[in-house]
Amino acid sequence: MKQHELVEKNLGLMIFFMIIAVSIGGLTQIVPLFFQPETTEPVEGLKPYTALQLEGRDIYIREGCVGCHSQMVRPFRAETERYGHYSVAGESVYDHPFLWGSKRTGPDLARVGGRYSDEWQRAHLYNPRNVVPESIMPAYPWLAEGVLDGKKTADKMRALRTLGVPYSDEDIAGAKAAVEGKSEMDAIVAYLQVLGTAITNKR
Ligand code: HEC
Repeated sequence: MKQHELVEKNLGLMIFFMIIAVSIGGLTQIVPLFFQPETTEPVEGLKPYTALQLEGRDIYIREGCVGCHSQMVRPFRAETERYGHYSVAGESVYDHPFLWGSKRTGPDLARVGGRYSDEWQRAHLYNPRNVVPESIMPAYPWLAEGVLDGKKTADKMRALRTLGVPYSDEDIAGAKAAVEGKSEMDAIVAYLQVLGTAITNKR
């Protein structure tokens, strides 16, 4: 066929048609996700992070915990037996950016909320060898010393509100008072303790 030969011998034209073909394939997979309730609506019982949990999440990002810990339980028996209910998209709708991760040097943390006491979490973060002698996780003793001033917390919540996180005016007005004077350790433990609980608390 004449036209076919034309495309095969003309690299620019070939790339053009390849981009069209791949885009159609990609768009038919991606676009529906923007309109499906399972991916856009929060699961029942999901609450936006409180001011303190939100600061904890930012410390989690700062310290690079996501480099060793995923937050995504896959729907396989081996995973659900170990961690609990597999992750669903509706749990992450208030996460900007989401922290699903892809590296598991340590265990998945998507369902860690409530698994240990606050005291265990503090002792573990201060030095993991305190509670897990064979642990290779780094120690984060400075979290116990860092004190939050809450100066930016309200702004962070306002920014998240523009992305659809339903913070009320009261939440934002009370943000500074809710975190001021708390330690970074308080914040990150508050964050860890809420992970996955929208689903685990239901059972
Ligand atoms: C170098 C990799 C690495 C980094 C970075 C890391 N961890 Fe870990 N983490 C591990 C390993 C390995 C374990 C399993 C041994 C243990 O419990 O200490 C673990 C265990 C945990 C556990 C217990 C999970 C369970 O279900 O038993 C929590 C909670 C945790 N890490 C939180 C954090 C937080 C928060 C940070 C960031 C401040 C962090 N980790 C950074 C490697 C890491």
